[in-house]
Formats: sequence, structure tokens, C-alpha cells
Amino acid sequence: MSFTRKLLAWYKRNARVLPWRKTRNPYAVLVSEFMLQQTQVSRVLEFYPRFLKRFPTFGSLARSQPKAVMEAWDGLGYYARARNLHRLAREVTRLHDGTLPDKPEDLRTLPGVGRYTAGAVACFAYEKPVATVDTNVRRVLERAFGSKDVWELAERLVPKKGERAWRFNQALMELGALVCTARKPKCPECPVRSDCRAVRSGIQIRNRQPGHPR
Ligand code: ADE
Repeated sequence: MSFTRKLLAWYKRNARVLPWRKTRNPYAVLVSEFMLQQTQVSRVLEFYPRFLKRFPTFGSLARSQPKAVMEAWDGLGYYARARNLHRLAREVTRLHDGTLPDKPEDLRTLPGVGRYTAGAVACFAYEKPVATVDTNVRRVLERAFGSKDVWELAERLVPKKGERAWRFNQALMELGALVCTARKPKCPECPVRSDCRAVRSGIQIRNRQPGHPR
């Protein structure tokens, strides 16, 4: 079975239920990706529903005062993200009729949107078959394939069908968050361990918990 099929089978059984996985609303997806940029999922879960309730659309966010946006963000840290999100909402309402672009290259012209966020939003909101590489995905692909150019690899691996690409990208992130963790990766639980270059070369041994045999 291919790397992707094993990964998707694992995702089906192990994916966490997260609010931003139940929506394709571009605004809601964008807010989740801004929040997730430098912040753990558990923390984002405390803020995300409240933020969307307070600012449910690009229009409502665009019309708000910076102070109100900062208050809703208070506790999440990295406040430049909130400022960029606010500016982005104003640009989208002014220049794009309130519609978020769906192409990564257009998304990247917006404040606070880098290569990762552009790919994530194009894929997770619009189901575009495009790559996205965050810290988790980078770690998984570097370990599994020993790749130098992780973006180039991710672009080759991402399925051509958008809906499958959506699951593939979510699954890579989930594997990095739950199994292929930075410290003490859970290699025995990994669905792609037989394809993994790090496992084959014994690299993961260094990351094993001391005192655990094998
Ligand atoms: N980190 C960034 N995007 C994410 C997502 N969609 N699900 C879980 N973690 C993420």
C-alpha cells in the first residue's frame, strides 16, 4: 500500500474532531490557520469559537475597532497576527468584494499570509489540490523521506483530487501532532513506519524515551 493510502486510512481512524475540520467557510478556515500558526491546538480551541461568535464574517471584522480585535485575541499571543488578520479583513472587503481569493498566489498578497497559510487556506477552504508545509508537516516529511526540499516533495505527494488533498494535508498535520512528534515520536504506532527513512536508518532511536527497551 502506498504512503498516502496508509496515511489516509490512519487519519480516518485517528483524526481528532476539530471545529475547523467541519467547515469549508473561507473566513472560518482562515481564522483557524492564523490562530494555529504559532499556537497549540488546545489553546486555539479556547479562543476560536468565541472569536467567530464575536466576528462571524470578514465584514464584521473589517468594521470593528482594532482595540476590540485585540481584546478577542488577548491570551493567544503573537499579536501581529491579529493586526494582520484585521488588515486582511479590510482588504478583502475593500478589494475583493468580501470574497477570499482561492489561489495560493493571490492569497499570498494578503497581510500575514505566507506560503504555508496560503496553501492551507486554498486546500482547507476551497479543496484545491495544493501543498502546505507547516512545522509538523516539515518534520514528518524530513524524517520519512529525508528530503531537503520539503515543499517540492509535498507538491509531488499531494493528491490531484481536491477532497483527497484536503484529507492528505490534514492527515500529515495530524500525524506530526499525534505520532511523529518532535520529541519521543511514537514510531511503533506509526502507519507509515515501513516507508520511513528515519526508522530504517535508526534515527528515531535517539528520540526514544530513556528506559524504554527497543
Ligand atoms: N495546524 C495548522 N493547521 C491545522 C489544522 N488544520 N489542523 C490541526 N492542526 C493544524
